[in-house]
Amino acid sequence: MRAIQKVSVCGGGNAAHVVVPLLKNAGLKVTLYTPFFEEAARFTTGAARGGVIMIVDGQGQMQDPPDMVTSSPSVAAQSDMVLLVLPAFAHEPTLKALSPYLPPETVVGAIPARSGFELSSYHCLGGASQKRTIFCGQTLPWACRIIEYGHKVRVLGTKESVGLATVPAEAAVELSAWLSKHLQVHFHPMVSSLAVSLGNIGQVIHPGIMYGLLKDYRGAVWDEGEIPLFYQGVTEEIAGFMEHMSGEIMRTAALLSQDHGVDLHEVLTVREWLIRSYAPVIEDNSSLARAFCTNRSYRGLKVPVKQVAGGFVPDFQSRYLTEDIPFGLLYSKAVAKMVGCPTPCIDEVITAAGGWTGRHYLDDHGALSGQDLSAARIPQNYGIKVAGQLVQVSLGNYQ
Ligand code: NAI
Repeated sequence: MRAIQKVSVCGGGNAAHVVVPLLKNAGLKVTLYTPFFEEAARFTTGAARGGVIMIVDGQGQMQDPPDMVTSSPSVAAQSDMVLLVLPAFAHEPTLKALSPYLPPETVVGAIPARSGFELSSYHCLGGASQKRTIFCGQTLPWACRIIEYGHKVRVLGTKESVGLATVPAEAAVELSAWLSKHLQVHFHPMVSSLAVSLGNIGQVIHPGIMYGLLKDYRGAVWDEGEIPLFYQGVTEEIAGFMEHMSGEIMRTAALLSQDHGVDLHEVLTVREWLIRSYAPVIEDNSSLARAFCTNRSYRGLKVPVKQVAGGFVPDFQSRYLTEDIPFGLLYSKAVAKMVGCPTPCIDEVITAAGGWTGRHYLDDHGALSGQDLSAARIPQNYGIKVAGQLVQVSLGNYQ
């Protein structure tokens, strides 16, 4: 890997506020890129007050401004690494804006990648013509919230370890070590970007719990105290539903492995993932529902809502549905179709959520079809029709 001295951070949200001081503190040159002039101006104003201060509860703080804030993609592209810390729906507009200016040796990655990031990258950045290294981070390492825009962010929690896959796969060890050192979080190399995509656990947990909690919702307006708990509201029925969705993804991964020899042992069931990620803070893991309800990290978190006259209603435009379905569950559904794995539970959730969000991805028989399918990050939208081709792209062979 070429020495990385200059990084462009794409995004102006919570995550970008954490990444900037960390990278600066590690001695790198950092450019912050947001295409929105107003956001760039606010970031510049905030950072001019002494830099971006990252406060980690109980562990002090770190403070540094970026070297540059820009809305110009041609400026942002002149870096050794481009790091997207953005919601998945912003990946493609960002990659397309940078693409004409991006040197082929610039490493490009997203944390979190969600599902199918490498497909979108190859598509936007020139595919086979460029032997570019792409990386996909499995989750954002931090729970974080901006306190003052451009100036202060609080880190509420940091994950123990975050998986990282690369295309080509050989770069994962070196890039994991680099990111671990410069972001002060442990990244562990994963075997395949397909495992990041199929193992994207948000696709199961967020739409699964939304569906379980709200399938019988009939339009009630809640007082603040009536807003249901999200994770602590998981019943045995909802947990069972998540296990079925997770099972459909596991069977898809097993068929892909069996038919194409790809190693997908890193795709975990929802139960394995929860225990592996949170064992020390789960009080009772006698069942999946109990493990969700007694996970201290989830305590008090509620269903996403929006305010209306007289109280609160569920926010069906929440990223739990508008990010985790088109950039998660639909990817798995699309791969399941390629390997011939039925997905009745996933279909039920996608269909119900479509009714709530007004986005339609499936026909009445559960087939991929509908006015909004072109906006989903599924292999078929990148000309990838069969599983063998998908496996080749994950190895860096884009035709
Ligand atoms: P955020 O909502 O704070 O920031 C979103 C950023 O995306 C903004 O700067 C906005 O300008 C930019 N954006 C929106 N549309 C865009 C477009 N079309 N082109 C370019 N930029 C666009 O998000 P945050 O909190 O920084 O999260 C980033 C990712 O990390 C999301 O996927 C989120 O779900 C995930 N995540 C965040 C956590 C947190 O604690 N903040 C925890 C776990 C995951």
